[in-house]
Amino acid sequence: MNSQELFALARQAANRAYAPYSKFRVGAALLCEDGSVVTGVNVENRSFGLTICAERSALVTAVTQGKTRFKALAIACPDAAYPVSPCGACRQVISEFVPPDFPISFGGGDGKLVESTMAELFPHDALHELADS
Ligand code: THU
Repeated sequence: MNSQELFALARQAANRAYAPYSKFRVGAALLCEDGSVVTGVNVENRSFGLTICAERSALVTAVTQGKTRFKALAIACPDAAYPVSPCGACRQVISEFVPPDFPISFGGGDGKLVESTMAELFPHDALHELADS
């Protein structure tokens, strides 16, 4: 599965976002080592700080299903006029499970994809020696 196909799944997932406060839907699609795809959406809360981003939602769902090895991640934000990359908290959490060359692609409403990597988005990982990967 290529990044465009993975992005299309993230875009579909974004329709299921729970974002009544920001109206900013985000979908994430995680390609697992076994070829399956696990999606996630942002889930907001009226106590705003409790919001869970789409990327962490996908990752937590995958780990719950026993999947901890991944090939790629795509993030779709149809409500943005620009490509939306993972927030700082998500970068830290994603980095727990993936190597520096892990492909991460992201795009906004126009569907144009930015192709990046974990290392580009999260350089100088201070705690990498404490993680398994
Ligand atoms: N959000 C994500 O789900 N992922 C990102 O990469 C950026 C931000 C969500 C959190 C919140 O529900 C909304 O987008 C606005 O910040």
